[in-house]
Amino acid sequence: MSSIVTKRFASGASKLLRTPLYDCHVELGGKMVDYAGFEMPVLYKGQTHVESHNWVRSKVGLFDVSHMLQHKFKGAQPRELLQKITPIDLAYLPINSSSLTVLLNKNGGVIDDCIITKHGENDYYMVTNAGCRTKDVKFIKEEAANFDVDHSTFEGTLLAIQGPEAAGLLQKFTNEDLSKITFGNTKYLKLSSIGADVHLARSGYTGEDGFELSIPSSTPQESQESQNFFRSLIEDYPDLVRPIGLAARDSLRLEAGMCLYGHELAEDITPIEATLTWLIPKSRRDEKNATFNGASKILSQIKDKTLCSKKRIGLLSKGPSPRDGNKLFSEDGKEIGHITSGSPSPTLGGNVAQAYADKLLKSGTKVFFESRGKKREAIVAKMPFVESKFYRG
Ligand SMILES: *[C@@H]1O[C@H](CO)[C@@H](O)[C@H](O)[C@H]1NC(C)=O
Ligand SMILES: *[C@@H]1O[C@H](CO)[C@@H](O)[C@H](O)[C@H]1NC(C)=O
Repeated sequence: MSSIVTKRFASGASKLLRTPLYDCHVELGGKMVDYAGFEMPVLYKGQTHVESHNWVRSKVGLFDVSHMLQHKFKGAQPRELLQKITPIDLAYLPINSSSLTVLLNKNGGVIDDCIITKHGENDYYMVTNAGCRTKDVKFIKEEAANFDVDHSTFEGTLLAIQGPEAAGLLQKFTNEDLSKITFGNTKYLKLSSIGADVHLARSGYTGEDGFELSIPSSTPQESQESQNFFRSLIEDYPDLVRPIGLAARDSLRLEAGMCLYGHELAEDITPIEATLTWLIPKSRRDEKNATFNGASKILSQIKDKTLCSKKRIGLLSKGPSPRDGNKLFSEDGKEIGHITSGSPSPTLGGNVAQAYADKLLKSGTKVFFESRGKKREAIVAKMPFVESKFYRG
């Protein structure tokens, strides 16, 4: 499959790519910025960042995530390939279910984080980050050369619908009983006003209940339908639904304790250092099954914590927010790491942040971050900072 959509929507002057929903963002007064090479809305007219954030925690927010890259893996050995490039155990993943995992390099470092969905024993769907698309595709092509695998990528409309009212809203557009689709499950279904089958995944990046819809948009007709669907959600339910930009997306995922590639995840960070040890299932820690890239380093870090030179931690603070790159100090003044993300927390008050410290620190430990030459106190805290409300049925 091709990258028809982004090519067709590519803007000549700026060289930035546009998603199928670009026109909708402009109509809604979206303030467009360059995000991973795409023109994406950071905030919409008539809403502050805090209002957008609180709206998602209390009602429904729509997020255009069409800049992410979608992959299909078929052929005779997609499982063998995916279990080499990620630590997932596909034997235990039920059909039509998905899981977060990470693409790993030879040293156990994270090339990207991704969601893999099993549609059949030899049929997998994956979504990766926009900012990593070039290196991800190169990496996957190189690895796939050693397997009998048919790998393709495609783009379309990817729409995240998030918030406590998300299921009630979406139920108005489909005959499928959404109460039967729990967190992590997926289904192809019909949505009113959209001709093609839509891939629905009950998942999200805010900690709220919600869905991610993959709506085919490779023809002008399909793109028009996805735009009309987006518009009708907002126009028909103005008291329930608002479009939400990148600013609130970041503060929501931070409160939910989730990682953002390029901040908490990078090629010199292993999933163990990122405190994502749960991504390596027990069955893959067995020597015989540990065939994924970087397994020896990752398994040794699981066995011996002191082999991690850094650990991801959560922080709470008051006053000016910690920011990416701020240095982190222990109470006795020793430099112990740095902040990777920080934001005021509309839900909790004060600030939430993530950082790397030279070792795991206990909740309640007092640390300091340096912001504009001044050291400010922060307290180590468990993540998620705001309790997740995934729908488990
Ligand atoms: C998976 O979902 C598809 C539709 O999305 C359905 O046709 C199929 O029966 C499902 N398979 C299982 C094992 O649930
Ligand atoms: C190895 O992986 C297979 C398939 O997931 C699993 O059934 C088996 O239990 C694993 N072996 C060990 C020792 O965990």
